[in-house]
This record gives sequence, C-alpha cells and structure tokens, in this order.
Amino acid sequence: MSLVEISGLEKSYRVGEMEVPVLKGIELEIEEGEFVALMGPSGCGKSTLMNILGCLDRPSKGRVLLKGRDLSRLSDRDLARIRREEIGFVFQSFNLIGRISNLMNVELPMTIKETARNARSDRARELLESVGLGHRLDYSPSNLSGGERQRVAIARALANDPSIILADEPTGNLDERSTTEIMEIMYELNVGGRTIIMVTHDVETTKDCSRMVWMRDGMVQEVTS
Ligand SMILES: Nc1ncnc2c1ncn2[C@@H]1O[C@H](COP(=O)(O)OP(=O)(O)OP(=O)(O)O)[C@@H](O)[C@H]1O
Ligand SMILES: [Mg+2]
Repeated sequence: MSLVEISGLEKSYRVGEMEVPVLKGIELEIEEGEFVALMGPSGCGKSTLMNILGCLDRPSKGRVLLKGRDLSRLSDRDLARIRREEIGFVFQSFNLIGRISNLMNVELPMTIKETARNARSDRARELLESVGLGHRLDYSPSNLSGGERQRVAIARALANDPSIILADEPTGNLDERSTTEIMEIMYELNVGGRTIIMVTHDVETTKDCSRMVWMRDGMVQEVTS
C-alpha cells in the first residue's frame, strides 16, 4: 500500500453560476519516505491539490487515499483529526501567529491534541532547537527574519509527528541564503524518513527530490526521477 494513492481526482469550484474545473483527473501514488517536487505553471492546480491532500479542502470526484483511508468519505470531524495528526503544512507566507512566542506557536498544534503541558513545552523547545532556533524561543515571529520564520513554521509542522510534510512554495518568499538553509532542513527531515511533498517554481530547490511531478492544466503531465 502506498502512503498516498490518488485516482481520478477532480476538483471544481463554483464561481457564480459557473462550475470551474481546476483538477481534471489526477493519478498519482506516493510512497513512504519520498521527497516529491510538484511543479508546473501558475494556476495549474498545485495548491488546490495540496489543500486536498492536507485535508483543508475536499475532492469533487475521485479517490484520495492516505494510509488506505479515503479522505473524500470522511466526516468533517475525522478530516480535522487526520489533518492534525498526519499532516504538517508549511506555507509560502509562514502563517504563524505574530504576537505570541515562537515556543507557543510550535506548542499550539499539540494543545489541540491535549498533550500534557510540560511535554508540549519540552517538545516545542526540542523542535525549535532542531531547526537552529534554540536561542529564539521567547521571541515572536514578528521579530524574526523570513528564513527564521519559516524554520519556526517547520518546527510547528512537526509538532504532532506527522506522516507527511506538505510544503507549498516554502522558499517562495525567501532570499537565496535562507532558501539554502530551509532546503537543508527539508533534506535532513527526508533523510530521517519523513515523506515530503513540496511545491516549487525553483528547480534549484529540487536537487534532493526523489521525483518531480509536473502538472499542467489540472492534470499530471509527466513524472521524472
Ligand atoms: N476557491 C476558489 N474558487 C474559485 N477558483 C479557485 C479557487 N481556488 C483556486 N481557484 C482557481 O483554480 C486554479 C488553480 O489554482 P491553484 O491555486 O491551485 O494554482 P497553483 O498551481 O497553486 O498556482 P501558483 O503557482 O500561482 O500558486 C486557478 O485558476 C484559480 O483561480
Ligand atoms: Mg499555489
């Protein structure tokens, strides 16, 4: 069984009276431990696919199996649980809470899971240390550089020990140096066994990826190793 099995996936959005098709029959399997780069022109549906994989949105048609469970058949409540327990999301714009500490940002996903308070705090500290921010625990994201913010976001994504990291243009807002740092962290996570799916427009960031999936107009056009 693959970690992710997508077949006949379609997604359309209703805009006024019109149904606008965005994903038009995606077929894709992803094995545990892969590092997949998802590429393709702007508007081809990459983020839409990531949002469905991340249980932030639902398919219109087709099947998306995560560890054998069909996401399209789950209740909102079960979907929220899977999102919390199995998925770590990293966004281009970080999506951190600017006015609370980095430590609290990383603790937040564990709060929802009702992890004991001390354990939460210890784990958040360890994760921030692991991304090189042990000296910035009490800072808030608004006092950090872009690269540092993205490192906090990666620590947060790891909080609940997810099966998959979904990263949607994680280096899209970063300069060259921060991009290199973030990609080194992603690489180390993958070497440590973490499955990663990353949307990127920058071929430079794909050198450690096991496969490149090229999308075009709502379909998978080509898969290369
Ligand atoms: N909620 C929505 N309602 C209507 N249309 C949407 C919605 N979300 C996305 N779309 C449309 O779906 C298409 C694909 O969008 P998506 O964000 O998945 O593209 P993308 O490949 O991630 O592009 P980019 O590289 O620019 O981030 C676009 O044409 C977009 O306008
Ligand atoms: Mg996008």
